[in-house]
Amino acid sequence: MPKKVVSAVAAGLLAASFLTACSADSTGGGDGRLVLGFAQVGAESGWRTANTKSVRESAEEAKVTLKFSDAQQKQENQIKAIRSFIQQRVDVIAFSPVVESGWDTVLKEAKNAKIPVVLTDRAIDSKDTSLYTTFLGSDFVEEGKKAGDWLTKEYEGKDGTVNIVELQGTTGSAPANDRRAGFAQAVKGDPKFKVVASQTGDFTRAKGKEVMQAFLKSQPDIDVLYAHNDDMALGAIQAIEEAGKKPGTDIKIISVDGIKDAFQAMADGKINVVVECNPLLGDQLMDLAKKVSKGESVPARVKVDEGVFTQEQAAAALPDRKY
Ligand code: AHR
Repeated sequence: MPKKVVSAVAAGLLAASFLTACSADSTGGGDGRLVLGFAQVGAESGWRTANTKSVRESAEEAKVTLKFSDAQQKQENQIKAIRSFIQQRVDVIAFSPVVESGWDTVLKEAKNAKIPVVLTDRAIDSKDTSLYTTFLGSDFVEEGKKAGDWLTKEYEGKDGTVNIVELQGTTGSAPANDRRAGFAQAVKGDPKFKVVASQTGDFTRAKGKEVMQAFLKSQPDIDVLYAHNDDMALGAIQAIEEAGKKPGTDIKIISVDGIKDAFQAMADGKINVVVECNPLLGDQLMDLAKKVSKGESVPARVKVDEGVFTQEQAAAALPDRKY
């Protein structure tokens, strides 16, 4: 066999084995349908599970062949998945970056291979905007601001320091960086708001609980918990209850996402407010993928409409929650 063919076969086998190792799969066949390679972050949260379901269902409905890879929250896995999609010559690559930086090299490879890239859910930090065609997702800075705005209204006209602990999302990820910045911006005008401890809970329930346990030990007087997602807030609620305190009353809780479990916790009085972040991006993603594969122009940024929900609205809104 000529050398080139041997290495192409080896590369193909490598790509196939990588996708299997990272719990990847594909639907549809080589029947002229659009092939979309999707490199997902992982399965760290209720939000993520809903996002994956939405992408899978929308691909099926839109008759798009989906090659799906789960990076298990590791950037190196996502980079391997993207390289594998390039080798397989998919029509479009979409991915939700685990962290913001470190993507230029692999995205240049996609660009050289003339495969358009759609960022979904999370943005990247790169000066070279030609490395991707469009970004579909929420405005995380705005979400952080909404969380901070709720807090400033809640304590309007009240004296005394407000001690806040913050459960950050995955270190280096866009939602962790932006939700932190947006919140800080909203509360910075009033010195009574003090973030006394801030640490990552990696967007998971288990870590959220573990870090909250540590906060409760090191901080004698916590007034507010700001959690960058619902799963960490729900884990923290367990820690607060086990410490003999009442979540939502002794410690006010602000969270982000809007999964059903969080709405239930709000209806039960354990979370005070949830800033919505919509994971149901599948239909918009398929639409964008079809357009970019045909070279049609699409907006550089596609935002998602989202609200803020308080305890008073939770019970009524619960039956209509789709995730
Ligand atoms: O990127 C969106 C964030 O990632 C969600 O808020 C969080 O739950 C998820 O894991």
